[in-house]
Amino acid sequence: MPGYLTGFNCLSCPAEFPADYGGYVCGKCGSNLDALYDYRSASREFSVKALKENPVLDIWRYSALYPLKGLDTIPGLEMPLSPLYRAPFLEEKTGSSVVYLKDDTRQPSGSFKDRAGAVVMAAALEKGVKVTSCASTGNAGSSWACMGASCGVSVVVYIPESAPPAKTAQLKVYGARIVSVKGNYDEAYELCLEESRRRGYYIRSTGYNPLTREGKKSVSFEIWEQLGYRAPASVFVPAGDGNILSGVWKGFTDLVKLGLIDRPPLLYAVQSSGSDAICRMVRKAGAPGQAVEPVRVSSSTLADSISVDLPRDGKAAAAAVLESGGDALAIDDGEILESMRETASRSGIFTEPSGAASVAGFIRASSEQNVPSPAVCLLTGSGLKDTASVLKAL
Ligand SMILES: Cc1ncc(COP(=O)(O)O)c(C=O)c1O
Ligand SMILES: [Zn+2]
Repeated sequence: MPGYLTGFNCLSCPAEFPADYGGYVCGKCGSNLDALYDYRSASREFSVKALKENPVLDIWRYSALYPLKGLDTIPGLEMPLSPLYRAPFLEEKTGSSVVYLKDDTRQPSGSFKDRAGAVVMAAALEKGVKVTSCASTGNAGSSWACMGASCGVSVVVYIPESAPPAKTAQLKVYGARIVSVKGNYDEAYELCLEESRRRGYYIRSTGYNPLTREGKKSVSFEIWEQLGYRAPASVFVPAGDGNILSGVWKGFTDLVKLGLIDRPPLLYAVQSSGSDAICRMVRKAGAPGQAVEPVRVSSSTLADSISVDLPRDGKAAAAAVLESGGDALAIDDGEILESMRETASRSGIFTEPSGAASVAGFIRASSEQNVPSPAVCLLTGSGLKDTASVLKAL
């Protein structure tokens, strides 16, 4: 099943680029790109009927809308649809009618990032790439190292030296070359770009490589199928760079373009109040269609995966929040840790603090506004990735 990629457009200027474009960002203005598809052709394979008849229950069932020429290069590790569980404890607590938890803690490397890693690695192999790099707070890198190990591709990962030990252990055991940066994620990000350009590495970094969003959007297709081919009314997404959020939006807007849903859900970006750049961008822009300006903060949060000064996909994420009619919420670390504890003890799903931010955001939003039901909270990383933060919550 081929993908129907037709090219890329710039998210800031009118420039468009062909499907075989060799760059990552807009060649005219340097902004992020978005992948374009031939939806009419894709709809022959991406329809309710075709999906119901397809016995393959993994992310590759959506490959008509991936930036791939075929499925010859996909990593061998299984990427099954992740579970969507009803969460009665959240329904009782908030008085909401229907709430679900989407459990992405059990992906091959233990985080949502594998959705991007699997698709981008398949695309990199189509290009014949041998050495690749990635800047990471921890999960994107460990996912990329995991995918690289499964495909025999060398991976170089740039991470802050403060990254939790479990994530560093993953990088080591998968055999990645680790560049441990004396600085934060943003400094690791800049160093990764600079060295990778100089050395000719293929760069996976979030919010730079436009294909990560294309992998992450599979979560929206899954939720739509798991709800009986219906979109939920609202989705809560932990946000650092904002790329998971822009991927969720891409997935639902793809479904609108295919005529499979009428409208996308309300999207809620959930951040730590110690790392709230996207919340500030949303407030500053104020309304859908208004220009979204970048905001840089000085981040400090226990939720290490969403600790970001300058969100690299912030523009697309903030625009998606506004266009969807949702909101951006900044939550204190104490509330995030309490949501992590409560989610684990009342649902059996152990997610890291960043993953539990969605639950904390849902609880907060439900106490302040009418959150349309059914709602879905994304649990984006395993709790075993950062046990030191867990122990602080107990
Ligand atoms: C567990 C987890 N949740 C949420 C995020 C935030 O994703 P994004 O940076 O795309 O907003 C990350 C990113 O590393 C993550 O690892
Ligand atoms: Zn541009």
